[in-house]
Amino acid sequence: MVTSRLVRNPHVSRAAVVAGSAADPAFHVTLPGFAATPVRSAPTAAARLGVGRVLVKDESARMDMPSFKILGASWACYRGILAVLGREPGSEPSLAELHDALEASGRDLVLVAATDGNHGRAVARMARILGLPAIVLVPVGTVAGRIEGIASEGAEVRVVDGTYDDTIAASAELADERHVVIDDTSWEGYHDVPGWVIDGYATMLAEVVEAIEAGEIPEPTAVAGQIGVGALSAAIARAFARRPARLLVGVEPTEAACMAESALAGRPVTVPTEGRTCMAGLNCGTPSEIAFGSNLHGYDVFVTVDDAWAEEAVRLLHADGIDAGESGAAGLAGLLAERVGLGLGPDDVVLVFLTEGPTDPENFRRIISG
Ligand SMILES: Cc1ncc(COP(=O)(O)O)c(C=O)c1O
Repeated sequence: MVTSRLVRNPHVSRAAVVAGSAADPAFHVTLPGFAATPVRSAPTAAARLGVGRVLVKDESARMDMPSFKILGASWACYRGILAVLGREPGSEPSLAELHDALEASGRDLVLVAATDGNHGRAVARMARILGLPAIVLVPVGTVAGRIEGIASEGAEVRVVDGTYDDTIAASAELADERHVVIDDTSWEGYHDVPGWVIDGYATMLAEVVEAIEAGEIPEPTAVAGQIGVGALSAAIARAFARRPARLLVGVEPTEAACMAESALAGRPVTVPTEGRTCMAGLNCGTPSEIAFGSNLHGYDVFVTVDDAWAEEAVRLLHADGIDAGESGAAGLAGLLAERVGLGLGPDDVVLVFLTEGPTDPENFRRIISG
């Protein structure tokens, strides 16, 4: 049975969403191959949703990688490595400055990251750019395509016999003088790096807001953000809390709905994630501490969807000439599943974030041929 759930958030209070800091966009443009990503129109998806327009911020080819994650990983590496070297960030942050700082230090650092795929690949890319080794930990069951993607960046991939949450714990244990842990979620005592990750995502939101303000795309009335640990959705909430959109919608897989459950509880709760949702990037059991406030106060509703909705969203986007991975299509999946409950109609302009291209090519082919 195809299921979904609409959870109205009793804690929504946009004024309580703190704007937060942002990465210096001057840094991102110094990365090789960096360019702003496009916002595309998805008319087939709009017709199915019964809305005026669906806008898709397409992150499927950010810096030649299949997801947005390099935005956070790169800024977190820049800030995190400088911090380990005891240096303050420069007034014009750049990759060259980071290279110089590393060389001057003579330190043989190793970057470590836990991931369900995309973040780890992005950290591995940063390690390669900087000439550092990387160890990337993935939960057991991570599909071959995603492991190959990380390995293709030159990282050592270690499979942890456990869930994503277990993988995070294993990465934290590796931290020492030499091993710099660049994780995208936070816990007590580990706030700086994941904070810089969220700041890095702000560059993607700034691109969208610039396009709105330049009149290139209309102001959205509904914005959907998919949630794993909630770093991405926090960046979205911070960008849109003070804009006119009437509806901010957080979307999670049914079997990893840690934020919806936390909103109901009014505090962060952990949910079991032994399941194998195809939305691998969202298969997280514990909300990130530092993202929690923005998510708790920023979202009007949370929608949980099962895999069939993600697959339907992948097919619809494909019909519009946009190839999405399952986590990448999750925002649209949530809107599709609960379009009536959300009261979507022809006056709505919907914004979704295609956060990844097909990172499991085998499953992508199966989905679009079905
Ligand atoms: C493709 C994709 N979309 C969305 C997310 C969710 O990001 P977050 O974990 O910050 O909620 C992830 C996280 O890995 C992801 O890989």
